Amino acid sequence: MYTLTVGLGERSYPIYITGDYGNIGTALKKLGVEGKIIVITDNNVDKAQGPAFTEALNNAGFVAEKFVIEAGENSKNLDTISKIYKFLINIKADRKSCLIALGGGVIGDITGFAAATYLRGIDFVQVPTTLLAQADSSVGGKTGVDFEGVKNVIGAFYQPRFVYINVNSLRTLPVREIRAGLAETIKHGIIRDKDFFNYVSENIEKIMNFDEETLKHISRINCSIKANIVEQDEKESGLRAILNFGHTFGHAIESASNFMLLHGECVSIGMVGACKMANYLGMIKEKVTDKVCQVLLKTGLPIKAKGIDIDEVYRNLYHDKKMRKGKLLFILPEDIGKVTQCVVNDENLIKRVLSEILQ
Ligand SMILES: NC(=O)c1ccc[n+]([C@@H]2O[C@H](COP(=O)([O-])OP(=O)(O)OC[C@H]3O[C@@H](n4cnc5c(N)ncnc54)[C@H](O)[C@@H]3O)[C@@H](O)[C@H]2O)c1
Ligand SMILES: [Zn+2]
Repeated sequence: MYTLTVGLGERSYPIYITGDYGNIGTALKKLGVEGKIIVITDNNVDKAQGPAFTEALNNAGFVAEKFVIEAGENSKNLDTISKIYKFLINIKADRKSCLIALGGGVIGDITGFAAATYLRGIDFVQVPTTLLAQADSSVGGKTGVDFEGVKNVIGAFYQPRFVYINVNSLRTLPVREIRAGLAETIKHGIIRDKDFFNYVSENIEKIMNFDEETLKHISRINCSIKANIVEQDEKESGLRAILNFGHTFGHAIESASNFMLLHGECVSIGMVGACKMANYLGMIKEKVTDKVCQVLLKTGLPIKAKGIDIDEVYRNLYHDKKMRKGKLLFILPEDIGKVTQCVVNDENLIKRVLSEILQ
């Protein structure tokens, strides 16, 4: 088992990376959990991972309550939060209780927000079961829900007490979700680590075949890149924005596609857009864009989308949170492994890029 630390002073926490659920009891004991444990999960994860997870808890002498929500982004709202509060009140969960988020980013964001607000904050831990959650969303403490059709608009920064990654939990995940999660992994390489980018590019097949050591390695690098950035800028007042590489175009496409495309697929297309923009601005050579496209294609991710309205995507760009004084903020590459934040206000340039990634 690998252990990393997210260093945030008194809110620091470990990330455990392993190949089964066998150490979850030890992790909870180390945390000193004394009260009720409540596992929050969704119906897919419950079916695929619930039995093994419950068995590991029971083997360690823990008996947990369980609350299962319907899988999918549609559940990420205040209604679900309200149901969780009712459940917690019903079972008399108190300040010593601990929530466990067993699932992907949807479950992690919902559970974290419920934990942040119930009794003004109780402990929660993350047990991410998608590659996106293992690479990205379980670390860093962004929690929240969607509201009135706007993504993640209600939320809180609230760090988990630990993150427990069982890389073999990915074995039951649909392959399209694995690919989508790899988009965030590739993103980490482009923003911070050229060697990691090359490693991922050379090991796609091993990843898709669930090679345990490869999955542990990418999890370790993903989490250390994310942790390092969060340690320097927990609440996104500066540096943390580089994690949004590919997301300025990505989010705008995601909304315009009516969520037919997965988040990671939109980020994939968005990263190509950001590379093209950097190329047109003279920041990188075209071969950098080609290299990025190659690895995305090798992964089975899209580098453009059809049938999406360019004007709608353009409008969506201006509804996003990534605005600075009314101008659009893009994270653009200077090379593989290095990005910079740029305000771009050139409508023709933005539309030129959009017309190339949305044919
Ligand atoms: N907090 C953050 O920093 C952060 C970062 C990125 C994304 N997010 C959020 O994460 C969410 C997306 O997360 P996601 O891609 O993990 O989606 P998700 O949680 O909806 O999971 C994707 C699908 O896979 C299923 N699933 C999960 N694990 C499984 C397993 N092991 N076996 C079988 N099925 C499994 C789920 O039921 C779901 O149907 C979005 O809401 C996004 O806003 C948050
Ligand atoms: Zn993302």
